[in-house]
Amino acid sequence: MTGMGTAADFAGFAESQALNGGSPTYQDWARGVAADPELCALLDTLPAPRRQPNLLFAAARLAGAPTGSWAEVRPWLLAAWPEVELVMRTHTTQTNEPRRCATLLPILAAIDGPVALIEVGASAGLCLYPDRYSYLYTSPDGGRTRLDPPDGPSEVVLPCAIEGPVPTRVPDVVWRAGIDLSPLDVRAPADLAWLEALVWPEHTDRIGTLRAAAHLVAQDPPQLVTGDLLDGLPDLVAAAPADATVVVQNSAALYYLTAAGKAAFADTMAGLRRTRGAVWLSNEGWTVLPDVAARLPEGLAPQFILARDGDPVALTDPHGRSVRLL
Ligand SMILES: C[S@@+](CC[C@H](N)C(=O)[O-])C[C@H]1O[C@@H](n2cnc3c(N)ncnc32)[C@H](O)[C@@H]1O
Repeated sequence: MTGMGTAADFAGFAESQALNGGSPTYQDWARGVAADPELCALLDTLPAPRRQPNLLFAAARLAGAPTGSWAEVRPWLLAAWPEVELVMRTHTTQTNEPRRCATLLPILAAIDGPVALIEVGASAGLCLYPDRYSYLYTSPDGGRTRLDPPDGPSEVVLPCAIEGPVPTRVPDVVWRAGIDLSPLDVRAPADLAWLEALVWPEHTDRIGTLRAAAHLVAQDPPQLVTGDLLDGLPDLVAAAPADATVVVQNSAALYYLTAAGKAAFADTMAGLRRTRGAVWLSNEGWTVLPDVAARLPEGLAPQFILARDGDPVALTDPHGRSVRLL
């Protein structure tokens, strides 16, 4: 029946991602959509991948939706549907969270010598600058450690709770590049506005970090290739300086692949490890790479899993707020 699958998806989003992700606003909106056959029927006119709650809500906010209760938003959304629908048809969810660098850093900084950093599913490339940000780590005993790039404090400071050894250096990134189906450009106001709309309404601290990181990256933008990560990676690896260790990272990106696509990517990384000594750092949701999750010790609460070459090395908060080294 029309809307049943969409209603179930929104109901599921309300009670899982919105609840766990700390957005009462999106939980209220998602519950509202789930119980609204008229809205579900409108969503069902879109292709299935375009019916995601995150996409609808970000599109609505980009188009100017009030961030009030569902009762306030519903009439606005119905009136503005053509505009919201256009955004949903022309945009994809490309949240770029620079704070994820704070959770990657303990592993990345342990790699000696020059690093050629490649990110697949890079969005605007904000996670390609782990060497340019400052970090403020808080240990379980409340101790705080600040880490700055060698040339001094960064305009971007990433706070992160850490369980395990605190990194003592930033990596020596000598070359960086990314690949994305549709790279965003932080110098383009429309792209920046979309990145801001993708941040959930209650996560106000993330907006300041996003703007600061975008400002930093805009001064030295990364090389971002348009393409599918399953096809374009070997060429990028071949372009990296020969004397640098190639590190390929992905965060919140493999989720978009089919099971066959994920297996093909893992095979590509195994091949690049053999032929080029490439290191693979993967930071994805618990269920995204079942082979990685199967290697975790029992009894851990689901979060993101950071894995090096397929072996879990840390549990991380999805938005980079904490890292627990294993
Ligand atoms: C949620 S964003 C994450 C961005 C960034 N990695 C981060 O952690 O902040 C996922 C990105 O993966 C990209 N993506 C999804 N499937 C892809 C594919 N098959 N090839 C290349 N990029 C892809 C999307 O366009 C999007 O920009």
